[in-house]
Amino acid sequence: MKQMKWLTTLLAGAALVAGFGATAAPWDKMPDAEVEQILDTKFAEGKYSKKGADGCLMCHRKSEQVMGIFQGVHGQSTSSKSPMAGLQCEACHGPQGKHNRGGKEPMIQFGTDAPVPAAKQNSVCLSCHQDGERMAWHSSTHNLEEVACASCHQVHVEKDPILDKVTEVDACTACHTRQKADMNKRSSHPLKWADMTCTDCHNPHGSMSEAALNQVSTNDTCYECHAEKRGPFLWEHAPVAEDCSACHNPHGSVNEGMLTNRAPQLCQQCHTNPHSGNNINGKPSVFTAGQSCLNCHSQIHGSNHPSGKALQH
Ligand code: HEC
Ligand code: HEC
Ligand code: HEC
Ligand code: HEC
Ligand code: HEC
Ligand code: HEC
Ligand code: HEC
Ligand code: HEC
Ligand code: HEC
Ligand code: HEC
Repeated sequence: MKQMKWLTTLLAGAALVAGFGATAAPWDKMPDAEVEQILDTKFAEGKYSKKGADGCLMCHRKSEQVMGIFQGVHGQSTSSKSPMAGLQCEACHGPQGKHNRGGKEPMIQFGTDAPVPAAKQNSVCLSCHQDGERMAWHSSTHNLEEVACASCHQVHVEKDPILDKVTEVDACTACHTRQKADMNKRSSHPLKWADMTCTDCHNPHGSMSEAALNQVSTNDTCYECHAEKRGPFLWEHAPVAEDCSACHNPHGSVNEGMLTNRAPQLCQQCHTNPHSGNNINGKPSVFTAGQSCLNCHSQIHGSNHPSGKALQH
């Protein structure tokens, strides 16, 4: 009799698990704290199944997407650190408890829309991935803004799209629409063709620098590829040595050379009245017409010419 009941539940369960996340769990609308409470209790009880993945797959094998885990690294038991070498599915989704009785008792769910708070989800991933690359995760903006690891990463797939240069930028700009708009402007870094990616300059897991940059400062990040702008110069242009983004938008701009503004306005932001002696009656002079500042001051990033004090040689 008992066995019959279990079988019916199993069949009902199997029928329900048609889609991947087709039905929202009832705890969807619970406050975060309550969800955490349930999960903490579940973990404290530690009721892991004895059958491991085989038990889960009795109900979940029909979902192609669930089975996708076996195509990826997390589905291989080659490494002793792999989930499959240990608690298997439950290494990520938590102890089964009474979940197998109709799927009512919730398991940990992952992703942007999951009812489980990001910090809780992420602690599961970090239990295996707390290493050098993610050293600054806890102080990162992504963590503070409650972005989940699984908002960027997929694990039930052969290849995680965000780890592929060709699809990374799309994954980032799904949330970062301003940078998406910038990179499609007239002048930009070659982000559209995956010749470059966001992670050439940023660490998505956070860093010790402003804006999660890979290097200690904006300039050091730029010098990685534009070493010739580092100098040293006999005649430095102060803002260049200080902050490239004083004049450039690294994501792109409607102006040539990714400039935040065109000359002469660009220059006049800081040099309010250069050559004022030549500016007769306030009319535009030879000095301010068109791009003329750069016609004479062509060594805008610095000069090594003995008489290049005014950056003209
Ligand atoms: C490395 C951690 C990890 C392991 C191991 C893992 N999963 Fe998942 N699972 C996830 C993540 C993350 C998602 C969210 C979708 C994605 O990223 O692919 C997910 C999604 C799911 C879903 C869909 C849940 C929903 O929100 O509707 C099911 C069902 C599932 N996993 C079952 C399993 C089963 C069964 C196994 C074992 C065969 C397993 N998972 C192993 C991390 C894991
Ligand atoms: C007796 C059948 C059954 C077994 C065994 C089973 N599940 Fe489920 N599972 C379900 C049902 C039914 C759902 C709800 C279906 C839905 O919402 O799409 C579900 C949903 C889930 C979800 C989505 C989150 C949630 O709580 O709704 C995850 C993740 C999951 N199961 C993982 C597992 C893992 C891991 C195992 C093994 C430890 C497992 N399941 C064993 C039937 C089962
Ligand atoms: C039980 C340990 C364990 C857990 C939990 C775990 N992982 Fe992993 N993960 C591994 C192992 C082992 C590898 C293989 C590479 C390695 O040795 O680092 C790996 C590799 C990865 C990779 C690189 C994939 C690739 O194709 O190279 C990503 C990304 C990743 N994990 C993300 C996650 C995320 C996101 C979670 C949480 C949903 C998670 N992991 C949970 C053990 C784990
Ligand atoms: C904003 C998107 C984003 C978030 C959030 C994110 N990652 Fe990543 N992750 C990436 C990208 C992009 C790469 C590949 C490029 C790189 O390594 O910088 C990567 C690479 C990885 C790798 C494989 C290479 C390596 O660094 O060892 C692992 C493992 C990983 N992430 C784990 C995690 C874990 C764990 C979390 C949550 C604590 C997380 N990631 C959160 C985007 C993200
Ligand atoms: C699920 C949404 C989401 C995805 C996907 C995402 N981000 Fe973010 N990111 C945010 C939020 C929210 C913030 C904080 C608000 C803001 O600055 O826009 C943020 C902030 C940032 C910042 C500013 C950090 C700081 O400390 O000032 C950088 C840089 C960044 N993200 C880079 C990336 C990169 C690179 C990727 C892809 C690998 C990525 N993001 C993917 C949501 C996301
Ligand atoms: C060439 C290097 C470079 C690349 C490539 C790059 N960024 Fe940035 N990003 C920066 C710098 C430098 C800053 C900080 C200076 C500033 O305010 O512009 C920044 C700032 C940000 C910020 C913080 C908000 C802001 O505007 O200050 C976000 C979010 C961001 N980047 C997202 C992205 C995303 C998403 C991509 C990929 C589409 C990307 N970045 C590609 C260099 C880069
Ligand atoms: C990973 C390498 C890399 C990094 C880091 C990098 N750049 Fe670039 N940059 C490039 C490449 C490649 C081009 C050439 C694009 C082309 O020829 O279409 C370029 C071109 C430029 C241009 C000229 C664009 C034009 O339309 O003529 C400017 C300006 C520029 N970068 C500024 C910066 C600044 C500022 C930083 C730091 C925030 C930076 N770059 C960081 C690779 C990089
Ligand atoms: C004072 C404003 C200003 C600052 C600050 C500045 N640039 Fe420029 N940059 C320009 C102007 C103006 C041009 C266009 C020059 C031209 O058309 O000849 C330019 C062009 C470029 C170019 C493309 C042409 C070339 O010379 O290779 C690159 C690359 C570049 N800048 C990188 C940088 C880097 C890296 C930094 C920081 C170390 C930086 N710039 C700081 C004004 C500036
Ligand atoms: C973000 C502010 C800023 C911008 C924008 C800027 N400059 Fe400068 N510039 C400075 C500062 C600061 C100095 C150093 C002034 C000093 O030492 O008295 C300087 C110095 C100079 C000098 C050398 C003056 C001397 O005799 O030492 C020239 C020439 C010059 N800038 C031209 C330009 C031109 C042309 C542009 C536009 C392409 C420009 N600057 C944009 C801030 C700026
Ligand atoms: C016809 C060539 C020419 C043009 C055009 C020109 N400059 Fe100059 N500029 C010079 C020369 C030559 C000097 C050095 C004068 C000296 O040493 O007495 C100079 C000096 C300067 C200085 C340093 C002296 C001072 O006045 O503080 C600044 C700053 C400067 N220019 C900015 C600009 C800006 C900004 C523009 C565009 C609005 C511009 N210049 C257009 C030739 C030019």
